[in-house]
Amino acid sequence: MINICKGTKDILPKDSYKWQIVRDNAEKIAKKYNLKEISTPVFESTDLFVRSDGDSSDIVTKEMYTFEDKGGRSITLKPEGTAGVVRSYIENGLGNEILPVKLFYITPCYRYEKPQAGRLREHHQFGCEIFGANSLASDIETLSIAIDFYRSFGIEPMVRLNFLGCDNCKANYKQILKDYVQPHLPQMCDDCHKRFETNPLRLLDCKSTVCQDILKDAPSISDNLCESCAHKFNEIKKMLTSLNINYTLDSRLVRGLDYYTDLVFEFCDSDPKGTKNALGGGGRYDKLVSELGGKPTPVIGFGIGIERLLGYLETKNIELKDDASVDIYVASNTEDENYVIRFVHSLRKKGFNVESDLLSRSLKSQFKYADKIGAKFVIVIGDDEINENKISIKNMQTGEQIKIWSNDVAEYLSQNVK
Ligand code: HAM
Repeated sequence: MINICKGTKDILPKDSYKWQIVRDNAEKIAKKYNLKEISTPVFESTDLFVRSDGDSSDIVTKEMYTFEDKGGRSITLKPEGTAGVVRSYIENGLGNEILPVKLFYITPCYRYEKPQAGRLREHHQFGCEIFGANSLASDIETLSIAIDFYRSFGIEPMVRLNFLGCDNCKANYKQILKDYVQPHLPQMCDDCHKRFETNPLRLLDCKSTVCQDILKDAPSISDNLCESCAHKFNEIKKMLTSLNINYTLDSRLVRGLDYYTDLVFEFCDSDPKGTKNALGGGGRYDKLVSELGGKPTPVIGFGIGIERLLGYLETKNIELKDDASVDIYVASNTEDENYVIRFVHSLRKKGFNVESDLLSRSLKSQFKYADKIGAKFVIVIGDDEINENKISIKNMQTGEQIKIWSNDVAEYLSQNVK
């Protein structure tokens, strides 16, 4: 037997309704905020991710699924949704007519990570990107979209916030951080030696406990912002408080991708003892569009891990309701199979959701099956019914059973199937 690849999951029929609910909720929220859906290919030129997601991020340096196609091109399965959306925005001139351009997507992502709880090699994200605005309103709108989405499942995550500042703030802080780290560098991991040279901010993201211990007392970026960046960050915090959005500051949050410019955030379990895995994350990236060849355009967005969200709901015992039951089951007990097939066909043609026996089972087994699939009504067709031109119909919730003219069945069902 050939087994599923490590770090991937089937979405089984018993769970597919949960994914439908995720899509429905995402679409409802997209409608509320006037986001338009975009879909980009699962694979792109490797260059796109190396240039956008950053050559010092773990995602690019260690986790990409990269291969050469038959034409000798280097291709990568998308590790995240943003880069492809930005490529498409530029390539299709989406910003040429009117700004802002507000987009959402639901996409698979591929990262060659060590599979563990909440960490898959194929995962899916609900993401959103808002192009063309750098304002308090666009920052807050982006966060509210994500929060509304979580709330649609009855959860209230904690938003972890940090502000990376403008170019000047960043350059200034990188030096402050390097000065702090320099004396500790010999004890730090090999990756941190590289980060020290190439992208010191990423030192803050190191997972090694030794490095984390050293960095826990590092000066924080938010204490070293210029006046204008500090003001901007304060306005965001004040607005979140006034909108009752729970947040906490995390001066070590730099995010796993290199393109972020100022505001960065992650959505986490509001219970400090709960999962450490982020339920989602994002931030502002005002330089990426121009770096990939487009007109300078500010952008802010987020990505929410769908498997992480569904796993989190399970740990909180929040059940999603599957209300996709069958309206009508047609049970038959007659040799006249053609009559039954035509009857079922006519009900479906009228728009009813109908199942019928496909295995020539006994009437008793058919009722058992109808009960199992949650049919609301069972119609019984036997030889007597065919001769009388009537059908028997049983309301499975009340147990009430009546006989009506076959011609009246559509009207009866229209009135009684809710
Ligand atoms: P990210 O933080 O790398 O950001 O991923 C977003 C979310 O995807 C994570 O918070 C997590 O919920 C989920 N996720 C990531 N990796 C895995 C994995 N291996 N297994 C399961 N779930 C995972 C981005 O991808 C950015 N593109 C978000 C963004 C959009 N920033 C701006 N716009």
